[in-house]
Amino acid sequence: MKSPPLALYAHFPWCVQKCPYCDFNSHTLREELPEQRYIEALQRDLDAQLPDVERKPLSSIFLGGGTPSLFSPAAIGRLLEHARSQLGFAQGIEITLEANPGTIERGKFAEYRAAGVTRVSLGAQSFDSRQLKLLGRIHSADETRRAAEELHAAGLENFNLDLMYALPGQTVEEAQLDVRAALALHPAHLSQYHLTIEPGTLFAAAPPTQPADEIVEEMLDGCLRTLVEAGFEQYEVSGYARTGARCAHNVNYWEFGDYLGIGAGAHGKLTYPSRGIAIRTQQTREPRRYLAADPRALVRKTIASRDLPFEFAMNGFRLVEGFVDALFEARTGLPIAVLEDALSPLAARGLVERGSQRWRATPKGFRFLNEILVELLPEAESATTAQ
Ligand SMILES: C[S@@+](CC[C@H](N)C(=O)[O-])C[C@H]1O[C@@H](n2cnc3c(N)ncnc32)[C@H](O)[C@@H]1O
Ligand code: SF4
Repeated sequence: MKSPPLALYAHFPWCVQKCPYCDFNSHTLREELPEQRYIEALQRDLDAQLPDVERKPLSSIFLGGGTPSLFSPAAIGRLLEHARSQLGFAQGIEITLEANPGTIERGKFAEYRAAGVTRVSLGAQSFDSRQLKLLGRIHSADETRRAAEELHAAGLENFNLDLMYALPGQTVEEAQLDVRAALALHPAHLSQYHLTIEPGTLFAAAPPTQPADEIVEEMLDGCLRTLVEAGFEQYEVSGYARTGARCAHNVNYWEFGDYLGIGAGAHGKLTYPSRGIAIRTQQTREPRRYLAADPRALVRKTIASRDLPFEFAMNGFRLVEGFVDALFEARTGLPIAVLEDALSPLAARGLVERGSQRWRATPKGFRFLNEILVELLPEAESATTAQ
């Protein structure tokens, strides 16, 4: 087992308005943003977790939400400076800020860039005004276009657009139009998420009618063709990138790297090679309680050594290229042979395949990734209960 790269995730739990489909830890902001108090809480949180990690320069930072772009560039700059002073930044570090197009005033992206942000992920979702309304979005398609222009003007060419598909009543052509409208803004990366109806959301209480599975299949095929023609490569289940523009932070997740998680409800994962274990961490979820809590209230759960192979594989199969044996052995400290029993039946069903010193999902397996994950899950769960 080797010590993997270390990344940092910081969660910002407030939004202008909660979207009816969203089950992220995000809350409508009903009073003044406690900006300074929250940044100080994030700094304390990071400091309290430092004894848990081998100090090494951060490989990437993701400022996610919620809506981090509700926070001023100066506040984001203070947090980044604190992280840099405590751990240092690796050469060429990627620092992503999630932004809602409805929160971007003129000149704001240039200030975020000056504060240290190197990449932006913009929540476009759709360019169809009917869909934006149904999705409860606070911005128009034109505001997304203006935000993208601002990104180019600020020199933040390395930006992602989030799109959702399988939207209520959406046709194959409409999904394609959304992808074309996104491409017209010249992003470096595009994420495309299947709209899922999550328990506890407004959509779960009154589910909209989504297109049938065959239509959704056709949508995905059409969108992939359009993206490939535009020079994008699918490298992950929901991720498409131009050459050199893969999201390093997300790739670190799928490669089972380490990350500190700070902020309300944030998750982290840390490896202890000398003890042969990895742990998962989770912070207090509710923002007000997080602000009042002792950061040491962090919940830590050990991933037992016998669960590591399955946790690793569930992440690794999200990448089109899968994972190489050497990475598996470095991250888990176990020989690749331990996966054989679980993966052979999946290989027999044509869902996964063995390449040169690597495992990956087949194109069929990639489409039905959930089936692979479901097959692997009982392994992880039975291993947990057998402890
Ligand atoms: C934290 S949000 C992005 C930033 C910002 N909060 C925004 O919405 O503009 C992360 C992304 O997850 C996706 N997402 C959220 N809920 C989803 C759902 N139920 N189904 C599919 N995608 C979802 C959306 O595309 C969203 O942009
Ligand atoms: S999708 Fe984004 S803006 Fe909407 S509630 Fe979720 S985190 Fe907030």
